[in-house]
Amino acid sequence: MSEETKTKEGETSEKENLKESFRKLDTDVLRAITRQRAHHTDRSMQRLAVRESAPASEEGTIFGMVGASRGLSAALEVLQERECGVETPDVRFAVETLERTERFAKEKTYPFSPVARPFDEAGLRAIKEAIYTRRSVRLCRDEDVPDELVKELIRAGQWAPIACGVQGVRYIVLKNPDHRKLIQQKFLAAAPVVIVVGVDTRFYSPLGVGKDNAVLDAGAAIENMLLMAHALGLATCWGTQANFSAIQRELQIPDYIRIVTYFSLGWPSHNPIPISRVDVAEVACKDGWGNPL
Ligand SMILES: Cc1cc2nc3c(=O)[nH]c(=O)nc-3n(C[C@H](O)[C@H](O)[C@H](O)COP(=O)(O)O)c2cc1C
Repeated sequence: MSEETKTKEGETSEKENLKESFRKLDTDVLRAITRQRAHHTDRSMQRLAVRESAPASEEGTIFGMVGASRGLSAALEVLQERECGVETPDVRFAVETLERTERFAKEKTYPFSPVARPFDEAGLRAIKEAIYTRRSVRLCRDEDVPDELVKELIRAGQWAPIACGVQGVRYIVLKNPDHRKLIQQKFLAAAPVVIVVGVDTRFYSPLGVGKDNAVLDAGAAIENMLLMAHALGLATCWGTQANFSAIQRELQIPDYIRIVTYFSLGWPSHNPIPISRVDVAEVACKDGWGNPL
């Protein structure tokens, strides 16, 4: 048997083994793996495409890309066995990523998007206004926030960076006053909406994604949501004190979801005075602790 045939057979049996282990998984977890493998395959391709100018790394090799894409194709095949179509954006992206690897193998090109340009003046003004005028607003009018706006915030949360592309952040919207009561800080529970943010723990340590990343993913999502809420004229205040186990129980949230944090949401009735932050020089250093930036 030639070396090439042996390698091919080895690859096929490795993929079959992967598929066998994937078949034992819940579809949610398998989709998270699909997202993770698509992310790693895409990342490898980007690095390989500019190999000449980028520093070498283990993933910037054909081996890195082929390894990730083999896992991706195994995951996609098992999803197909379960008749999970390609309608969802994550699976669609995964299928397209696999197709790109085939083109990449022949042409060694990656369809980079145009390099981002700085925002124009109005755009910069808007982002600075969002960042520098957002405040924690703890007093709200007794007026509902339409679900469409809540969804817009959640979409903004989803577009925050996420570790390894797993998309494990989950959003539990509390509008029912009985549910909001489970938030210990009464002034936050008094807002018409509380958005509880949790993470699907099955997508972190079990997939080799550091578990601290789960908390960071949740925090990044919250910040995006707070800025979007502010831009929409909504009041928010981040909180962490709540009876998380009661929320978990009363809302029948599965054990594998870890509640991390929450924020209150409503229409502001009062805006607090501007506060301050210490100077950058006090909080930053350069190339060594204590060296000024
Ligand atoms: C992780 C975290 C937890 C917080 N917990 C609370 C809280 O329990 N109650 C509260 O009123 N504000 C809470 N805040 C809001 C902070 O008090 C607020 O962000 C800080 O005072 C700065 O004010 P600003 O948000 O208006 O800039 C929390 C903020 C963060 C990031």
